[in-house]
Formats: sequence, structure tokens, C-alpha cells
Amino acid sequence: MIKLGINVDHVATIRNARGEDHPDPFRAAKLATKYGADSITIHLREDRRHIKDIDVKKICKDKKLIVNLEIAANFKMLKIALKNKPNYICLVPERRKEITTEGGLNVKKNKFKLKKIINVLNKAKIRTSLFIDPTLNNIKLAKKLNSNCIELHTGKLSRLIKQKKSFVTELNKVKKSSKYAKKIGLEVHAGHGMDYKTAQILSSVKEIKEFNIGHFIVGETFFYGINEVIKKFKKILK
Ligand code: PXP
Repeated sequence: MIKLGINVDHVATIRNARGEDHPDPFRAAKLATKYGADSITIHLREDRRHIKDIDVKKICKDKKLIVNLEIAANFKMLKIALKNKPNYICLVPERRKEITTEGGLNVKKNKFKLKKIINVLNKAKIRTSLFIDPTLNNIKLAKKLNSNCIELHTGKLSRLIKQKKSFVTELNKVKKSSKYAKKIGLEVHAGHGMDYKTAQILSSVKEIKEFNIGHFIVGETFFYGINEVIKKFKKILK
């Protein structure tokens, strides 16, 4: 069964809209885990627009949670990450003006820095993933840099599916990349912009072991509650 990682960043977005303490992403993380999330993803952005340092501290401290911390690939963020000891780290690109993480890492351009960071994380025994666009070159480089996993950016595919446009070419890129990555020993994850329909379509790619889904789940929870939403995803991922 594909694992379901739930990203609670946007619980923090709603909280921050009022500048107070409610709703608490830590409480959301505990509840999502109780109802079957396999891991909790949080992205500590450099501009702290949703998850704050105190959230990372609280969420990582609770050892009943399996935490996947997303950070920009730099040494300042790495230091914060190491202090909090999450189970997993996913390195992502960051641009201040973007609405969300709009594409994968430029692995080629950043290979020396990435190699150093991955080296530190491997020594700390933290599972490391690189958030990349689905290309064979990115995957080859991820392996060369000793990453344990890759997370394929599914934003473009998700958008095409939602807009009812042809998505076969993009889906084939994900399929081909997943197959190749698994073959060379990388664990394959997927995420960004996913909902029930994209989860259904991508669950046919048997090499993918984990989905990381945030925005849709937080929105859908308003209508049906987290328990029901997780149940529905689990049914799709079986
Ligand atoms: N995976 C990664 C690496 C991400 O950066 C994000 C967005 O923060 C997600 C998954 C989740 O994307 P969405 O909120 O669109 O489901």
C-alpha cells in the first residue's frame, strides 16, 4: 500500500491569518496520525509564512509522530533541521515570491551544495529526499549525490488533470522516472497539487511508495473532517 504523508502547513496558514494560536498544526498532526496518516510533513520556509520554528520544535519533539521536514537546501536551514531531529528531510527549492513550491530543485546547478548537505544528513541517519521534476537526469544526479529518496513534483500533472487537459505525456514522464529511480535504488515519492483523482491515477504507478498531500486535505477536512478524508485516501491507495 502506498503511504500517505499529510502536510499540515496550511493549518498554520489559517492560524497565522489571525496571528493567534488556533488552529494548531501540532494538534492537526496528532489527529492526522491518529486517523492513519503514515507521516506528517511540515515545510519550514525561510520567510516563515506558515510553519514557525516553535511548530517544528513541538512536532519533532513528539516521538509518536513520524515527521518529514521540508527545508530549502542551505546550511542555515540544515542547522535548524539537525537541532530538531525529524525522521525525514526533503530538500526543496525556495523562491520568496512563489505562492507554493512551483517546481523541483535545480539539481545540476546545486550539486556541490546538495552533496554536502546529503552527506551530513546521511551521517545523522535521517532519510533524505530531493524534490525534483520527473526527468532521468535529475534522478541520475540524485543517486550520484547519495540521496535515499526522490519526491517527484506532480504539480504539472495535477494541474492538467484538474483542467481536464491531456495528461498522458506528463504521466508517462512520472512513470518512466519512477521506474528508473526504483531500478537504481532510490525510493520514490510523489507530491504537489494532488487530490483524490490524481491519487487514483498515480496509484497505478507501482514504484511510488509515498504520497505527500497538503492543501487539498486541509481544504477537504473543512467539509468532511480529517477522519473521513484519510479514510477516502486510504481506500484509493490500497
Ligand atoms: N511535497 C512537497 C515537497 C511540497 O513542497 C509540497 C508543498 O509544500 C507538497 C508535497 C504538498 O503539496 P500540496 O499542498 O499541493 O498538496
